[in-house]
Amino acid sequence: MNEKNAPAVLTAAQVKRYLKTEFPVTLDVQREVTSTNTILKSLAEQNMPEGFVLVAESQTAGRGRLGRSFHSPVGTGLYMSILLRPTFSAERALFITTAAAVAVCRAIEQETGLKPQIKWVNDIYLHEKKICGILTESSINFETKGLKWAVLGIGLNLSEPEGGFPEEIRSVAGALFAESCSVEMRARLTAAILDHFFTFYSENLKDGAFIEDYRSRSLLTGREIVFSLADHVYRGTVTGISDEAHLIVRLENGEERVFSSGEVQIHKGFAKL
Ligand code: BTN
Repeated sequence: MNEKNAPAVLTAAQVKRYLKTEFPVTLDVQREVTSTNTILKSLAEQNMPEGFVLVAESQTAGRGRLGRSFHSPVGTGLYMSILLRPTFSAERALFITTAAAVAVCRAIEQETGLKPQIKWVNDIYLHEKKICGILTESSINFETKGLKWAVLGIGLNLSEPEGGFPEEIRSVAGALFAESCSVEMRARLTAAILDHFFTFYSENLKDGAFIEDYRSRSLLTGREIVFSLADHVYRGTVTGISDEAHLIVRLENGEERVFSSGEVQIHKGFAKL
């Protein structure tokens, strides 16, 4: 992309124009960083208060789950991290990721009318393609069993990068828009994601009041999947999401299992119940 058709640069002032939350948010918007999550983790250790949000227009070392990288080119995505200091127990940490998934879906729906779905546990899909990934990293206080801090990272593909997505993610990756996304829309989406997430975080995140919404957006429910956990591979059909945001799977042998972590692949030629 050359400078002439490069999208205008996003600023904190533009995002703040649309931000409604009363949560004390400190917003920093950068053109390029290594990884918004890596930077916030380091700030968390230096006692930065919660509510600090770093948004970047590109990342040179964006990170995904399971040690993967997250492709973060300039102008076609939104990459942000939120520093949190939750008062609930570490057992509830999964609710940060799952509430954020619902917040992203609500923000997209509000701003575009599109209806994305959630692929358990941290991916947002539109038209069967992954358009957003969420990575929550945290530090646990082993004495109190609480969280010292958590960094919630959200990476949203707004449009397809010039030349397409890299080969290794091409079959899975998709984007929210077919055309490039205006700076105003980027500001609106950023603000809407923060508004929806902080509403959950301030009110009812630890009680899981958002779970019903998460369930209603579940891409996997009723589908045949292949599930990997450590060295094990399971096959089965997803029957639902538990109140703890765990995945409920009916295995091939008829046994019902509840998984709190693991990696899901949708079985080719899946059948929707
Ligand atoms: C995944 O799909 O595995 C999770 C991807 C999370 C990507 C976001 S982009 C903003 C934040 N900074 C990072 O380095 N990663 C997260």
